[in-house]
Amino acid sequence: CGIVGYIGDKNVYPILIKGLQRLEYRGYDSAGIAIYNDKLKTYKKQGKVSELEAYVADKDIHGHLGIGHTRWATHGEPSDTNSHPHGSMNGDFVLVHNGIIENYAELKKDLTAKGYRFESDTDTEVLVNLIEYFYRLEEVSSAEIAVRLALSKVVGAYGIVVLCLHEKHRMIAARMGSPLVIGIGQGEYFLASDASPIVEYTDSVIYMNDGDVAIIEKHSLTLKTVDNDPANFKVTKVDLGIGDLEKGDFEHYMLKEIFEQPDTIRDTYRGRIRKDQDDIVLGGLIDVFPKIVEANRIIILGCGTSWHAALVAEYLIEEYARVPVEVEYASEFRYRKPIINPGDVVIAISQSGETADTLAALKMAKEQGALILGICNVVGSSIARLTDAGVYTHAGAEIGVASTKAFTAQVTVLTLFAFKLAKERGKIDADTLKMFIGEMLAIPGKVESILLKHPHIKAVAEKYKDAVNALYLGRGYLFPVALEGALKLKEISYMHAEGYAAGEMKHGPIALVDDNLPVVVVSAKDDYYEKVVSNIQEVKARKGNIIAVVAEGDNGLRSMADDLFEVPESHPAVASLLTVVPLQLFAYYIALMRGCDVDQPRNLAKSVTVE
Ligand code: G6P
Repeated sequence: CGIVGYIGDKNVYPILIKGLQRLEYRGYDSAGIAIYNDKLKTYKKQGKVSELEAYVADKDIHGHLGIGHTRWATHGEPSDTNSHPHGSMNGDFVLVHNGIIENYAELKKDLTAKGYRFESDTDTEVLVNLIEYFYRLEEVSSAEIAVRLALSKVVGAYGIVVLCLHEKHRMIAARMGSPLVIGIGQGEYFLASDASPIVEYTDSVIYMNDGDVAIIEKHSLTLKTVDNDPANFKVTKVDLGIGDLEKGDFEHYMLKEIFEQPDTIRDTYRGRIRKDQDDIVLGGLIDVFPKIVEANRIIILGCGTSWHAALVAEYLIEEYARVPVEVEYASEFRYRKPIINPGDVVIAISQSGETADTLAALKMAKEQGALILGICNVVGSSIARLTDAGVYTHAGAEIGVASTKAFTAQVTVLTLFAFKLAKERGKIDADTLKMFIGEMLAIPGKVESILLKHPHIKAVAEKYKDAVNALYLGRGYLFPVALEGALKLKEISYMHAEGYAAGEMKHGPIALVDDNLPVVVVSAKDDYYEKVVSNIQEVKARKGNIIAVVAEGDNGLRSMADDLFEVPESHPAVASLLTVVPLQLFAYYIALMRGCDVDQPRNLAKSVTVE
């Protein structure tokens, strides 16, 4: 979910609406705003921000203080009632909330016993009423005290912003586990769940810490802890350009981001390869690298696309650096009582740096004594701040919900990491390292040549757009690419797709093969080539349609496949960075032809800050 807030002299409405549009990638089940203008007025609507805009067209939206929210539903279905902001029963407070109040049922019971009634099914409505309950106690003299008292009773994660009817010159924000950024202007403050709604007004920001409460007025900002102690904070510069947040000439963010990959891969390795191309420098890891070199085991955690990047890293690190690697879904790892030993290094991969499961898994690993590292795209994100050290991916803001450029940036960092580790552990010699660096430097140009072929990929998409199912197969470094290709297709086109290790096909998925099934086979001129050829023959024998991703000049597969996506030749260890690109475009065009909302696919959110 996304949060935005403003206090100052400007008209608040356009700031809230524009902010919500920038945040829509975090969820778009419903949107709402509350504006203070003598009265506290709340408008909210199920659906996208555009529906809210239409709804308020004839309403009074004048005011200079307000908050807004765009929601990804957790407790309670998407509906007008369940949308934020939520108001308290007697109208003293309105509040927007990200996260989950875990003990809401218990709190709701207590409040019900005290006479409180609830309109929605949300945990948020419980919180706003709890604040009101404290506020109305005789000994409580301000909204700030009421907020702090209420939060001391809450178990769970939250980022909240509160307006009080009786305190028309301030807003109060608090954070525990769900990010909030304060933007500092001249006689005005902005507040949001990430910097994207703020950057067009100011680049001076404070990332709030967990457990902190901010009392924000036009000319003053106070940060304290929930226990009323002064809080530590740092004013920093945001490194997000407004251009990152605009679509430019592209029809969709996703397409723009796919086409940005030559640049984003370059940006990701820039400054990390020595001028003579004989060594890799990962500045963020320098201090801890000796420990990483000694690691007994590396555990890599992630969700969704980031987990796929982790799988590529597993193969790379084990093959070249010879350190045992385990890759796990963060959501499993955090609850299954894993064994973590002192010599373990745990790496979390996360575009947003905010995914709740990844964050929680990492905290657990830290508590158990592991060295924890982060590979994040969003600078200053929660995971980036929690980890002992890390490497940023420098892909720029990724807005399309389906991840594309963040994936190739993650794989770029992980590839650099694997080769650096291999070198430091003495597992590859100087010439091999140089060869791999050369392979990496050639990637952006090769990606450019793949992107030029988009009309062909579009034509192939046209052929298969009405399929019901699709199967994606790959082996070795291209197995994660098969998973990622299938994930892209199902996320944005709603066509059911499965990614499989090609060798596993005969153990199940082969039963699906008939003359209606497109089977995407991802191949490279690697050690698996002959095996992949056999898999293709197994599919052909059952009349499946083969779409093969092949290295240019691979005439062997040309005769067997129904359709081909050619990519330039490369070393197999970096082939995932190339082969994934036509699959991103293939998914994009199929979704487009099926009339789907590419940038905001149903039910998904880009940044999942709840478990
Ligand atoms: C969500 C997004 C995915 C993403 C995953 C992990 O499910 O829709 O695209 O891969 O979260 O996100 P992260 O920010 O941790 O990489």
